[in-house]
This record gives sequence, C-alpha cells and structure tokens, in this order.
Amino acid sequence: MAAVNLEEILTFGTGLARTVGSVILDAFKQPKNIQHKMGCADLVTETDQQVEEMIIKAIKETYPSHKFIGEESVAGGLKCNLTDDPTWIVDPIDGTTNFVHRYPYVAVCLGFCVNKTVKLGIVYNVPNDEMFTAIRGQGAFSNGKKLAVSSESDLSKSLIMAEFGSARDPATVETVLKNMSSVVLNPVHSIHCMGSAALNICAVASAQAEAYYEFGIHCWDYCAASIILEEAGGVTIDTEGGPMDLMARRIVAACNLTIAEGLRKKLVPIHFPRD
Ligand code: IPD
Ligand code: CA
Ligand code: CA
Ligand code: CA
Repeated sequence: MAAVNLEEILTFGTGLARTVGSVILDAFKQPKNIQHKMGCADLVTETDQQVEEMIIKAIKETYPSHKFIGEESVAGGLKCNLTDDPTWIVDPIDGTTNFVHRYPYVAVCLGFCVNKTVKLGIVYNVPNDEMFTAIRGQGAFSNGKKLAVSSESDLSKSLIMAEFGSARDPATVETVLKNMSSVVLNPVHSIHCMGSAALNICAVASAQAEAYYEFGIHCWDYCAASIILEEAGGVTIDTEGGPMDLMARRIVAACNLTIAEGLRKKLVPIHFPRD
C-alpha cells in the first residue's frame, strides 16, 4: 500500500470542500428539485447528487488507488464496504433538510480512514464558512483556531444535541421521544436539534454543547466529525458502551466519558441494520 501523506490530503480535502461549498451556496437560496429516498422525511436534492459526483471525480483523479463510500453513491447501489485500504467516507451535504429550508447549518463532510481507523476529518459548514479539520494526533481546528471541549462533568448542567432522524414509523418515533424525555428529565439544560449530525458533533468539539447522541445515522454522518471531537479532547462511544463503531449507525459523542456514560445510560436502544 502506498504511503499516505495526511497533511497533503488535508490540503486537497479542504480545497475540495470549498470548491463544492460554492456550488452548495449558489443553490442554497434557489428553488430546489426535492426527492424522497426511504420516506417522507428522507430528502435528497440534485445538489446532493451533483456535489457527491464532483467529490468522487476529484478523489479518483488525485488519488486513483483510494476507495470511497458516499451517501448518494450508496443510495445509487454502491456497496458500503469499509476495508483496510485508504478510504474516503463522504457526505456531500449533511443537513439536507436544512438545505431545503434554507436553515444555515449545512456541511460537507470528508472523512478519511486507513486500516478501518479514522485518520482525518473535514466538516465544512458552508453558509457560515466554518472549516473544521483534524488529523489524528495533531489536534482539531475551526478556521485554523484550536478547539477544546467543555470541561463540564455534570449532565444536569449540560446542553445536549440530538435529532429526530428521518424514520417516521410510530415505534421508532415513540422511542426517539421516550429517549428525549428521559434525557431532558435527567434534567439537562436543554436538548437542541441542529439538523446536522456532523455539526452537532462539531458543536461539542467547540464547547458549545456537552454531548450529542443519535440512533440511525450512517458512517458518512459521523466519520469526519468523530475525529474532530476526539482531537478536541472529547470522546465518542457506542450507545451499548465501549468504543464508537463506525458501521453501527449510533453514537454518543461527548466532552468527556462521565457525560457520555451518564447520557448513554438514559437511552433505550433503537436497532437499525449496520452500514
Ligand atoms: C441527516 C442529518 C440529520 C440526522 C439524520 C441524517 P443528511 O443527514 O445529519 O441531522 O438526524 O439522521 O441522516 O441526510 O442531511 O445527510
Ligand atoms: Ca440524506
Ligand atoms: Ca448526513
Ligand atoms: Ca447527506
């Protein structure tokens, strides 16, 4: 396997995120062609597809030996198969519902894995022009400024990020609501839903919130952001306990293990098939 130069990959990836970011920004305020994927709340636009095509084309041209997993490619039939090879995990637009409604929390997510381990993450909040980056072992940054998580260790003094997700079957929605009430009654200061898994995790990395959890997300939603949080001093764990599993479609991400474990114990698991 050819050696990978993570600094070079970061320069390429941030440049690419800015390039596709300008396409997203141009489309942001325009009328959109919206389609539904797995249900009435699972939206996709032509911009999601266009941006993913641009990202994959650029990766193939610059790094022909690298593999990739991308949300819209998987929706189009590509197998979601993470191997030991250098692999990009791509979410062209995280926050498609926000994008559709012009709510300005919309991010391009580029995660990069080698030997199934996340080595580098880029999350670009396009409307806010905020570039979150991390390379394993080198810290996390937002527009070049070093990030550090909140030092809060009391869950009752925490702001929790969570989401409803896109499933609308009554049993799933009921458990999502049960989890939210169990968390809020803990009590916590509040629960916020930003509409982007990656930006929720980056909010924890930026000490703007203490934790985030969700069931039903995919590897492209949390791959890039997970390393940004870890490099900011935070933790990512599996909702069943133990280390985060990139393919398990669930996460608790927090500023420290005390908050993560306290939150995790409040949650009733919701089971989704693995990526
Ligand atoms: C979604 C967002 C949302 C989360 C969903 C994700 P998308 O990603 O991250 O916040 O609740 O589970 O699917 O579809 O906008 O890329
Ligand atoms: Ca989607
Ligand atoms: Ca996403
Ligand atoms: Ca997406």
